[in-house]
Amino acid sequence: MKTVSIAIDGPSGAGKSTLARSIASTLGYLYVDTGAIYRSIGYDMCVQGIDVKDEAAVVARLPEVRVELTYGEDGLQHMLVGGEDVTERIRTPQVSMAASAVSAYPAVREYLLEMQRELARTHNVVMDGRDIGTVVLPDATVKIFLVASAEERARRRMLELQQRGMDEPFEKVLREIEERDYNDSHRAAAPLRQAEDAVLLDTTELDFRESEQALLRLIRERTAE
Ligand code: DC
Repeated sequence: MKTVSIAIDGPSGAGKSTLARSIASTLGYLYVDTGAIYRSIGYDMCVQGIDVKDEAAVVARLPEVRVELTYGEDGLQHMLVGGEDVTERIRTPQVSMAASAVSAYPAVREYLLEMQRELARTHNVVMDGRDIGTVVLPDATVKIFLVASAEERARRRMLELQQRGMDEPFEKVLREIEERDYNDSHRAAAPLRQAEDAVLLDTTELDFRESEQALLRLIRERTAE
């Protein structure tokens, strides 16, 4: 089967997940949140008390981590670690930083590559992450690079955390966003960067509906869907 794949990359908080999920539902494609996979690895390391800055320790633990991606009856992606559903627990600021740290290690990226490619081989997907258009799916049907200013992303992240009952000051959220941007784009292994054939979409001035419409337009132009 020839599948269609929509790759959406960009920095933290640019709205990738919310937009990708909604677009996948409109198109009837599978939504794959690859950040959640890195978060699951980061979560496991935290639970095991492993220092995520210690590459050798993380890599040594890797073969023991049982990460599974499933789709619930709600149609949403769920992450299991050691058979336990950690979908909600991987959303804390601590796990965000751990995910950013472990995702810099080539062994971690290599370990997760096939899992991501297999999903795109067997389903039409909207996949979001940092290196989908550049490394995971270099032949994706449509590649989008989604950006927004760091301040706007911090504002959105703060609202999202508030909705989950976690109140964080703006300055702290902004600092963490900037720190993750730096980590994600300066690492040697698959750094965050726009693929040459990706379309840049800046959502700083766009609300959710406008961003969604702009994305769907871009996808339809390129897939004749
Ligand atoms: O999108 P997110 O915030 O849930 O991602 C969590 C971390 O995982 C992020 O700091 C970078 C990393 N990541 C990555 O390196 N490659 C991906 N394809 C997706 C996420």
